[in-house]
Amino acid sequence: MDVTIKDGVAAEFAQVDEVIVSMLQSDVEMVESIGHYIVQAGGKRMRPLLVLLSAKALGGIDPCHIRFAAVVEFIHTATLLHDDVVDLSTLRRGKPTANAAFGNAPSVLVGDFIYTRAFQLMVELKHMPLLAHMAETTNTIAAGEVMQLVHAGDPDTQADQYQEIIRRKTAALFAAACHGAALLHNADQKIAEALHDYGMNLGIAFQLADDLLDYAGDPSLTGKNIGDDLNEGKITLPLLHAMKVGDERDRRIVGEALRHKDGGAFAEVMSVVQRTGGLDATRQAAIQHQQQATHALDQLEHTAARETLRLMATQAVDRLN
Ligand code: IPE
Ligand code: IPE
Ligand code: MG
Ligand code: MG
Repeated sequence: MDVTIKDGVAAEFAQVDEVIVSMLQSDVEMVESIGHYIVQAGGKRMRPLLVLLSAKALGGIDPCHIRFAAVVEFIHTATLLHDDVVDLSTLRRGKPTANAAFGNAPSVLVGDFIYTRAFQLMVELKHMPLLAHMAETTNTIAAGEVMQLVHAGDPDTQADQYQEIIRRKTAALFAAACHGAALLHNADQKIAEALHDYGMNLGIAFQLADDLLDYAGDPSLTGKNIGDDLNEGKITLPLLHAMKVGDERDRRIVGEALRHKDGGAFAEVMSVVQRTGGLDATRQAAIQHQQQATHALDQLEHTAARETLRLMATQAVDRLN
């Protein structure tokens, strides 16, 4: 993330990282080695930043927000460990994925450790509404990943089904990061809902951008390979759009590649996507959600933190330029 985003919360951000590292402690060596491997590879830490900035926009960052920010990053990290196994991904944060470096079984099991550690940390916060919200959110993410698996290789997947998958697997956690910060402040429901709406739309914009970058990104910038989605038969907006506006031949090329999870057809599929404007349509959809996210923040009082949240939404789509 851009330095200007972190500027106003730099001290608290460093504290979150300390909690993350200390909460990875275990008497089982493999837990620590894999945990540190993925955490120290970096990552943008967007979700903890959302917690900190939301808290600050509502009056201030309390110690409970620092811990909650670490919880949210833990949940995210656990989903990545599992997701890379399921997606057969080999590159993450510019390094071999944990599954590539250590194997599938260790990645899944350490992912479980990190999920459950997140809930241990949350119990310590002794805030039942927050715990309920995060239990619900984590379950939603899991359901989203299952939905995606069910639709893998299915070119008949509809746009609204894709939208529901990305809402669950990605945007729900962005929304919960913001909403959770409001719950810990015992904020008015209207404010908590506005932050939820902001996070949800930001998360959708972010996943749309990620799906575009899976076709057109630069691995040296994203730290991930291109083509992972096609390899897994994952239908995303660039392909949905190509099949919607393309001709019979285009639909056949994309449909067959999806059905056979044929990463080897990447160049051919990419040329269909480009010709049909699939990348631009995805960029436009991301911008729409970024604008909805920005609009939701109008409900909050004017603060520097609120404006930084706006900037985060802009940057989620700016990485597409
Ligand atoms: C990756 O999230 C998973 C998606 C939701 C696309 P990030 O792009 O936030 O991953 P890191 O934490 O910065 O590596
Ligand atoms: C990310 O989906 C969603 C979760 C990790 C839950 P992707 O599969 O698109 O994320 P990347 O591209 O592997 O980071
Ligand atoms: Mg993946
Ligand atoms: Mg992706």
